[in-house]
Amino acid sequence: MTPFEKLLLENKAWSHEKTEEDPEYFHKLAQLQTPEFLWIGCSDSRVPANEITNTQPGEIFVHRNISNLVVHTDVNLLSVLDYAVNHLKVNHVIVCGHYGCGGIKAAMSNHTYDLVLNMWLRYIKDVYCLYEEELSAIKDEEQRADRLVELNVKEQVLKLAKTSIIQRAWKERNSPVLHGWAYGLKDGIIKDLFNLQPGDFSSVTPIYQFDDL
Ligand code: CO
Repeated sequence: MTPFEKLLLENKAWSHEKTEEDPEYFHKLAQLQTPEFLWIGCSDSRVPANEITNTQPGEIFVHRNISNLVVHTDVNLLSVLDYAVNHLKVNHVIVCGHYGCGGIKAAMSNHTYDLVLNMWLRYIKDVYCLYEEELSAIKDEEQRADRLVELNVKEQVLKLAKTSIIQRAWKERNSPVLHGWAYGLKDGIIKDLFNLQPGDFSSVTPIYQFDDL
C-alpha cells in the first residue's frame, strides 16, 4: 500500500468510527458551522490547531501559512479574515506562532532561499529590524529565535488591528478580541503573549486608524 492509499483507508476507518460513536455526527456538522475562533497559525505539520487545543471540527476556522504572517496584500488571508469576522462573526482571532519555527530561523540566516521564499521571509526580517536592539543582545541563537517568534506574533496581531476589517468590526459590534500565542513544540504548551481588546489602539500608530468607517 502506498502512503497516500493509507490516508484514504484511514479516512474510511475514521468516518466509520465517528459514525459508530454518534450516528448523527456528520449530519450535525454538515448542517452548521458556527466557530467562535479564527486561527492564524504556522503551516508546520506539528502545530495542528484542533489537536493542540483539543477542539472538534466546526469549532475553529483556520488559516495557516509559513510563520503565521498577516500580510496586508495577501488576498487569501484577507478573504479568510473577512469571512470569519463578517459572516461567521467570530469573537476571537488568534495568531499562534511556535517556538522552533523553521521560517523564523530561515529569516534570521543570510542564506538565499530564492525568489518566492525570500519574498515571504522578508516580512520576518522586517520584524527583526524593528526589534534589532533587543534581539542582538540575546547571544544564544535558539533563545534569539524564540524571542523573534514572540515578537513576530505580536507584530502580526498589530497588523490585524491595522486592517479596516478588524477596525470596522470593533466599531460595529465591539468584537473580536485579538490574541497572540506561542506554542511550544517541546512541551505542547501554549503561551499567552499579547492581547488586544476591541477598540484598543494604544499600540497602533494613528496613521493606521481609519476615521470614516
Ligand atoms: Co513554523
